[in-house]
Amino acid sequence: MEDIIEVSQLDVGYKDEAVLAGLNFTVKAKEITVILGKSGCGKTTILKTLIGLIPPLSGDVFFFGGKVDYYSEKSLNDLYRKIGVLYQSSALLNSFNLYENIALPIKMHYKNLAREIEREMVYTRLSQVGLLESSHKYPAELSGGMRKRAALARSMILDPDIILCDEPSAGLDPITAAGLDQLMLDLKEHLGMTLVVVTHELRSIDKIADKALVLDSGRLHFFGQYRELARLNDPFIDTFFLKNAKNEK
Ligand SMILES: Nc1ncnc2c1ncn2[C@@H]1O[C@H](COP(=O)(O)OP(=O)(O)OP(=O)(O)O)[C@@H](O)[C@H]1O
Ligand SMILES: [Mg+2]
Repeated sequence: MEDIIEVSQLDVGYKDEAVLAGLNFTVKAKEITVILGKSGCGKTTILKTLIGLIPPLSGDVFFFGGKVDYYSEKSLNDLYRKIGVLYQSSALLNSFNLYENIALPIKMHYKNLAREIEREMVYTRLSQVGLLESSHKYPAELSGGMRKRAALARSMILDPDIILCDEPSAGLDPITAAGLDQLMLDLKEHLGMTLVVVTHELRSIDKIADKALVLDSGRLHFFGQYRELARLNDPFIDTFFLKNAKNEK
């Protein structure tokens, strides 16, 4: 299957303090790759690097085979258009209603798009995440699960090749979280989307993961098929999963 993202010998840090070291992995089309690891190990930092927000200290990121140039506006704009992001905090704008929030990326990237086309795009995405009836509501009037679904709709609005989700089901009840997992699976299976998902939820990982990437203190501990990870006899991975399993009881 086609490589959408390839990461080669990637080191990332903040003010020269290394956070990620020597990462190599690929993200294949139409797969869900989950990123796992303890709090503070660098999961969000990986996503920020993949979307062009943090230039690496060294190493390269390739997007559809082309090297990302972190210092070229054109290269970064290309990334912003082709990668959708669901941020850890949902990041909806409070003074805009749901329709306006979801239409925002369209307005930023296509200056003079006909109103009817914009409406068609927004309502298609709202209907895919089950929020058609709520388009006039403001973020403060939505539940946590609805906000996450709205953020997912916004991440999909420009028809991205890949969606990156940072803990999409954190803070949700198990039933709503399962609904969001199903939504992500539907995006992959019915719309052929590719997703990279940071998550701590064992149930979610089990349900959605094709590939898994496990970080330990900024280094790659495992990258490969999730099925293989589940079969490994590895103390670090065992403690990670056991701890999660206990948290979910
Ligand atoms: N803007 C920043 N400036 C300096 N250091 C940062 C910044 N953002 C993150 N870090 C540091 O980088 C490390 C990795 O942070 P990151 O947010 O990637 O962790 P994470 O794995 O996403 O954690 P969590 O599961 O809690 O969301 C942490 O040590 C953090 O303190
Ligand atoms: Mg994080």
